[in-house]
Amino acid sequence: MSISKVVIPAAGLGTRLLPATKSQPKEMLPVVDRPAIQYVVEEAKASGIDDILIITGRGKRTLEDHFDRSIELERHLEAKGDMAKLAAVRSISDGPATYFIRQKEPKGLGHAVLCAEKHMADQSFAVMLGDDIFVSEPPAIAQMIELYNNNPGIIIALQEVSDSQIPLYGIVSVCKKQGKALLIDDLVEKPSLKAAPSNLAIVGRYILTPEIFDALKSIEADKKGEFQLTDAIRYLMGSVPIYGYKFTGCRYDVGSKLTYLTTNIELALMRDDLRDDLRKFLTELIND
Ligand code: G1P
Repeated sequence: MSISKVVIPAAGLGTRLLPATKSQPKEMLPVVDRPAIQYVVEEAKASGIDDILIITGRGKRTLEDHFDRSIELERHLEAKGDMAKLAAVRSISDGPATYFIRQKEPKGLGHAVLCAEKHMADQSFAVMLGDDIFVSEPPAIAQMIELYNNNPGIIIALQEVSDSQIPLYGIVSVCKKQGKALLIDDLVEKPSLKAAPSNLAIVGRYILTPEIFDALKSIEADKKGEFQLTDAIRYLMGSVPIYGYKFTGCRYDVGSKLTYLTTNIELALMRDDLRDDLRKFLTELIND
């Protein structure tokens, strides 16, 4: 059976973006003209996903409002004859069924994924992190679903990172290449540069098999009291094939101040309605 469900963990506290994220979820911060998480949902829709589960937490109610219909706004735009904006607003709530579950305590990414256990009903599923935007054709998660169909198992999106970035990511070691699937024989969550087995980092897209739930219940919390998804995947080594995949395309992280700003600029430069004026502004700014 192929992948039709996705879980989008969006329950993190977003402390790297404070004070902007004090009462506003980081996934709702605008990137050009839409909240970051909307890009992630659009990627899921374009990849044939028909069931989206968003894991939220305290103070994240605006996420539910964003993906709900806004009848008053639709009526207002219709009365004004603003059909382009009406279509843009309607498309947000159209399409796959969207569900929400609250993670009651911020106990880490692994614990957020565990909240999805009942919903996934023993099927393999995708995980897409709500603050990682991927721009690619075909969409990154569609590339991974295709790989999963030929290589059933856990699939993790990978990207090479510089030495200074290594302690910010889960890092893997690859022992064998099977076409596009890279067989993984070790994973470490946020290692020091010295302890890192390579510079191949886990980035925000995964395909997971249902065994992950028992693994998440079997692992210990880390020093911060958080349950790490990387540790649960490591726990399954030897019983479930674990593949890495270097996706085609670009990834933008909106989880830190600098990358949030650069993502806005890069994505705006991809837009026909903004590119020329923004490029002119940036050139003048740099030449000043
Ligand atoms: C999480 C994962 C980490 C992964 C990263 C990708 O960390 O735990 O393995 O490399 O996402 O963005 P976080 O950035 O949520 O601390």
